[in-house]
Amino acid sequence: MIFDSIDLSGRIVEHVFLYIAVIAVFLLALITFLMVYFIIRYHRRRNPRAEDIEGSPWLEVLWTVVPTLLVLSMFYYGLKGFQSLKKIPEDAMKVKVTARQWSWSFEYENGLMAQELKVPVGKAIDLALTSRDVIHSFYIPSFKVKQDAVPGMVNHLWFKANEAGVYDVLCAEYCGLQHSYMLTKVIVLPEEEFKKWYEEGGKRGRMILPSGPKLFEAKGCQACHSIDGSQLAGPTLKGLFGKTVTVITEGKERQVVADEDYLRKSLFEPNADIVKGFPTLMPSQKGFLTDEETKEIIQYIKGLK
Ligand code: CUA
Repeated sequence: MIFDSIDLSGRIVEHVFLYIAVIAVFLLALITFLMVYFIIRYHRRRNPRAEDIEGSPWLEVLWTVVPTLLVLSMFYYGLKGFQSLKKIPEDAMKVKVTARQWSWSFEYENGLMAQELKVPVGKAIDLALTSRDVIHSFYIPSFKVKQDAVPGMVNHLWFKANEAGVYDVLCAEYCGLQHSYMLTKVIVLPEEEFKKWYEEGGKRGRMILPSGPKLFEAKGCQACHSIDGSQLAGPTLKGLFGKTVTVITEGKERQVVADEDYLRKSLFEPNADIVKGFPTLMPSQKGFLTDEETKEIIQYIKGLK
């Protein structure tokens, strides 16, 4: 079948779409033509007296059987396309994708973490999608693939890029304030170039902790907290350390000094003390930051003067 020769995962969507569109346009033209023709042919002036027109069994069989076969063929192609989208090739490269408000992060099998999805050209990629907070949807328009990222669940999506290049990734599920900014890229590299990047990154991997600014970005903090004083969804971290902040604790307003304990508590129990004027949005970092990472992040925030 034609589908066996198409290995572009999501590209199948294009073929099925085209198939249905061609049939739909043909039928639209046919029906419109017949309608206009009958209006003229059977106009009152040409047929002043009503006539009894006998049915034609053959014609009735024809216009029942032909559309039925057409609709069944659409179903067949749609089903085949769906199966191909769901059938992940066995040699696919695995990448874990974590969505959060409001960024994506990618983790490779060698421990390499990235904010953009770099992949080699011509290789099937198996993405294991999950979310840390609410439902997001991982969408690569160019490859015609889209899959929800759901907290507490792992969904798979696969694609294969046959040309090197840079492709947009969007979040296709309304997930809060900065949903529309939840963008990243798929960067398709020639195999050699990818290998070099992957192996170098793998050596650094998890063994060496990324430094403050890198870690801050890799953990997605920058999506809500600026370091230049501008206000995003969360309070800015510029000059925060040592400052007195007004927080809401169990519905009551109080003042606290932003010391190390406060920063630590804000990471792990973000909703215990909410900075006045901000929504309760932040997910707890429990299980997502190691002790060293926590220290590094706090150290970084302390330095944001
Ligand atoms: Cu994430 Cu919209």
